[in-house]
Amino acid sequence: MSQAIKKAVFPVAGLGTRFLPATKANPKEMLPIVDKPLIQYAAEEAVHAGIKDLIFVTSSSKRAIEDHFDKNYELEAELEKKGKHELLQIVQEVVPSDVTCVYVRQPEALGLGHAVLCAQPVVGDEPFAVILADDLINCGGNSVLGQMISVFSDRATSILGVEEVPPEDTDKYGIVDPEEINGRITLVRNIVEKPAPADARSNLAVVGRYVLTPAIFEHLIAIPRGAGGEIQLTDAIARLLQDEKVLAYRFEGKRYDCGNKLGYLQATVEYALEHPDLRDAFLEYLETEFGSNGKNPLRIIND
Ligand code: G1P
Repeated sequence: MSQAIKKAVFPVAGLGTRFLPATKANPKEMLPIVDKPLIQYAAEEAVHAGIKDLIFVTSSSKRAIEDHFDKNYELEAELEKKGKHELLQIVQEVVPSDVTCVYVRQPEALGLGHAVLCAQPVVGDEPFAVILADDLINCGGNSVLGQMISVFSDRATSILGVEEVPPEDTDKYGIVDPEEINGRITLVRNIVEKPAPADARSNLAVVGRYVLTPAIFEHLIAIPRGAGGEIQLTDAIARLLQDEKVLAYRFEGKRYDCGNKLGYLQATVEYALEHPDLRDAFLEYLETEFGSNGKNPLRIIND
């Protein structure tokens, strides 16, 4: 039987330049989709999948993330005093009490691979998950990480969450070279960080979910800087798969690329249309404002 996955790493040290000036003083991971910050969706996904230790790899400007997951005595006392019990519960349940948050600093912006390596002292010698909060994935009840962990419990080897992207977009992702695709799970022959469309071996892209064996760390230590002058997780995975099997898993769910404005807006609209308190009023607004010019937003939920 494979070892249980109990730790998840959240690399959150990036600058978020695509959302400036909103991210000048606020971490991009704290941008809300309706009423929850992106990082909380990521943490909830992990907790739902049975993760007990949330390891955030942060930088100096990310203190708001620590505050978000910490107790806020003043706010709680104020909500209590005013009898706002529902809100109090929301604030108190940001993370369950049996889940631990650990913060590790990434001293220099040396890339995703380097961020994961910074978590090594906390992860230790056990398999772990990596979640990129920018990639918000809506799966209804079953989280992507939950799906991947159940594949891991069967296969006991590293697993990458992948989806097909438009062929012209391969230069935005880690792209896998898959063995014959048969169902959701495919053996990875190779992986390349951000290949030009002409060089890409497929359009299967890694989208912000990884389950990795601890052997990844020795490769992260060994690799030189790669694309963009950064230590790339993709390059370490390319070395790992020479020693161990690495699988690509085509998850069930819809991904929103909240690292760019369009994806962020799409997520906002679609999550608002699923929100029990907002749904009806928001739909009515969309119908009134946009329904008559042929762009009937009802399509969004009927698709
Ligand atoms: C990172 C990874 C890339 C992956 C992507 C998913 O790139 O390096 O392999 O496909 O996340 O969102 P970034 O978006 O940080 O440039």
